[in-house]
Amino acid sequence: MGCGYLGAVHAACMADFGHEVIGVDVDERKIADLTRAKAPFFEPGLPELLQRAMDSGRLSFTTDVAALAHDGAAPTVHFICVGTPQRAGEFAADTTYVDAAVRALLPYLRPGDLVVGKSTVPVGTAARLAAMISEAVPGAMLAWNPEFLREGHAVQDTQRPDRIVYGLPADPDEAARTKALLDEVYANPIATGTIPVLTSDYATAELVKTAANAFLATKISFINAMAEVCEAAGADVSALAAAIGHDERIGPKFLGAGLGFGGGCLPKDIRAFMARAGELGADQALTFLREVDAINMRRRTRMVDLAREVLHGTFLGRKVAVLGAAFKPESDDIRDSPALNVAAQIRLQGAEVVVTDPAALENARRAWPDLHYEDKVEVACDGADVVLLLTEWKQYKAIDPAQLAGIVRARNVLDGRNALDPQAWRAAGWTYRALGRPRV
Ligand code: UGA
Repeated sequence: MGCGYLGAVHAACMADFGHEVIGVDVDERKIADLTRAKAPFFEPGLPELLQRAMDSGRLSFTTDVAALAHDGAAPTVHFICVGTPQRAGEFAADTTYVDAAVRALLPYLRPGDLVVGKSTVPVGTAARLAAMISEAVPGAMLAWNPEFLREGHAVQDTQRPDRIVYGLPADPDEAARTKALLDEVYANPIATGTIPVLTSDYATAELVKTAANAFLATKISFINAMAEVCEAAGADVSALAAAIGHDERIGPKFLGAGLGFGGGCLPKDIRAFMARAGELGADQALTFLREVDAINMRRRTRMVDLAREVLHGTFLGRKVAVLGAAFKPESDDIRDSPALNVAAQIRLQGAEVVVTDPAALENARRAWPDLHYEDKVEVACDGADVVLLLTEWKQYKAIDPAQLAGIVRARNVLDGRNALDPQAWRAAGWTYRALGRPRV
């Protein structure tokens, strides 16, 4: 149920593991694409996987939930993969789609069937849904199996996750049957013998997901807070991150300082986590996440300020080239994209802003029609007064600064992701500035 970034990849991977899979979604365009083995969004490896799974005859897609009707001869497993966006004007998550998906399933559930929640939900949701399911269909069960895939690496993260978590029913017999079914579903990755399978109650499984995303967000905001101090002290946050990352207890990953985190998960998940903790009377425990959020949002403003500073105080009459629209490389997802947020702020302050991106232009154009878009880097940068690298696609990291120098009006580059080689750009005559790094 739900064929977005999570569900479409999950469906294709499960079919690839040898299961019979039906993907259901209310979005007719998405289902039409998937039925033709076309990925409805950019995800490396997904088109090939979809084609293979469709060719096997084990994978189909439909908008008709009645396709899930079955004779009950063998238990059926229903994965809930729908979105839980931030509610308008609130921090809390909107679980309407999860509730609607489970409700739509109820007429087709039979005793022994298993509903598996994968969506990121406020703790307590699983217990509520389990009660709803067992009341409507006694003998049908629920498990919570959080998903940790990263966009851009979704296929490999689903095929070979670094851990599998099962939140199981309290009743020992139901828990054993649920675990056995899930072990069968995940027999392929489990057979590697290297992937830990962890079991817990519902609430712990739900919290594992939100805690993991809160930790990742905190790690990014920590290094971005260090970037602010580095800027004030004339120090270099990239060198600092590399040095502290050698400590095994800290580790080098997710210490990339720059424009901060965006996307459909980390920003809304930390806010929903704070909202839920408040409802549970544990709001004090998570007040630090407010600061994590604030540091993150400040990065965007700081980037705009830095661009204005390089342009001697005004955007009026200036042309700004923006490299990157997606919230991160290897994705066409522009939900809460830091890059587009910065581009839009600069446009509002009077500059002509031209944005380019290898995958996300169509989505960006739909969401931010006021910005000017170009497919090619050279066209986007033609006559620019400043070039902003805001999403670190590998093609942008490979740009030859000497070549780009001949296209722009002024050689100013701002590295919003600390992804370029400052020496190479300076040697080619560019003024290179980055968040958290010294001017020279
Ligand atoms: C995140 C988690 O990493 C996944 O484990 C989780 O399953 C997923 O959310 C989810 O809840 O569905 P994702 O949103 O795909 O995955 O992206 P990340 O790779 O976590 O990156 C998030 C943001 O952080 C991006 O904007 C990225 O540019 C930024 N980031 C990442 C940094 O600013 N610095 C870093 O060092 C790393």
